[in-house]
Amino acid sequence: MTAKSKKTRAQHDFQGRTCSITGVGSYVPEKILTNAELEKMVDTSDEWITTRTGIKERRIAAKDEFTSDMAAKAALRAMKMAGVTASQINLIIIATVTPDMPFPSTACLVQHKIGAKNAAAFDLEAACSGFIYGIEVAKQFIMSHTYDTVLVVGAEKLSSITDWKDRNTCVLFGDGAGAAILQHRPGTQGLLTAAVGADGEKSDLLFMPGGGSRCPATQGSVDARMHFLRMEGKETFKNAVQTMCAAAKEVLRRCDLEVSQIKCFIPHQANRRIVDAVAGRIGAKPEQVFVNLHKYGNTSAASAAIAAGKIQRGDLILLVVFGSGLTWGAAVIEW
Ligand code: ACO
Repeated sequence: MTAKSKKTRAQHDFQGRTCSITGVGSYVPEKILTNAELEKMVDTSDEWITTRTGIKERRIAAKDEFTSDMAAKAALRAMKMAGVTASQINLIIIATVTPDMPFPSTACLVQHKIGAKNAAAFDLEAACSGFIYGIEVAKQFIMSHTYDTVLVVGAEKLSSITDWKDRNTCVLFGDGAGAAILQHRPGTQGLLTAAVGADGEKSDLLFMPGGGSRCPATQGSVDARMHFLRMEGKETFKNAVQTMCAAAKEVLRRCDLEVSQIKCFIPHQANRRIVDAVAGRIGAKPEQVFVNLHKYGNTSAASAAIAAGKIQRGDLILLVVFGSGLTWGAAVIEW
């Protein structure tokens, strides 16, 4: 059964045009970093990483390859799939916690790289939840007829803020980018509904202390390794499972859908055990669950978008994400 055959509660939310994803594209760097190589860098083992996370390898961007480069490559692929030229793009939203630099926005750099001269451009920071936050924001512009074509990219060079001496975190993350073109496509419901949320009280579970106005770069901040991400793994894990389950159930409820009606469940690719726990609690069967974290690790905002490239037209998909902030989000999309 597709969403078309049933009037969903989410349809009643629409006051304007529907918003569909008409093209997706992804890019990952060439260099592969395996668990075996990590064994030589920190006190860890392939066995520990595999059983605790499911990750076998991740991609690492080259020294001279930046977030904007990966974002631009993913964007060009999404544009090709959607049949969209650079000049047609009205708005570029880049979801990232690893911008090329604090300012100008990475979105402006991508705008230049792809030649989208007519586009407004800004960055959006919602950590690993950035892609769903991004498509939810883009939807407002499409629904309201403000813009016809919006490019949303989740892109990260997490290797640049990873402490390669900290075994608690360095085994988890990878680099990459995933892009989507959002437009009104007549005859499909597209983005049925999205629910996004945040809990700033738990901002200290996953954060990077240095580099902002609170702690600008000094020799002391560098010596204290404050320009790398820090994480309370266990608490982050618990919160991820709780909030992802709640968000998934909320969007399914809004659409009057059972999880069995979902063709593909794409959870944030942080940890295989988080994926399995969420899938189990919402009742998704293993064959419905998309997993690529064994190949790419956690690519933060890029992960949901990288995964989205595997879907067929007309499929109903459930995207669920979680990230620093804390932030979370879920979306039901008719592809
Ligand atoms: N290799 C070997 N041992 C390790 C490693 C490693 N790479 N990392 C930690 N350990 C050790 C710890 O030091 C600890 O040892 P101790 O008991 O002697 O102190 C032991 O392994 C167990 O550690 P736990 O924290 O209990 O391990 P846990 O089962 O919780 O797994 C993990 C740790 C994988 C980090 C898990 O907690 C997790 O995935 N958390 C969520 C992470 C996540 O999703 N982050 C991203 C959020 S999204 C975003 O915005 C980026």
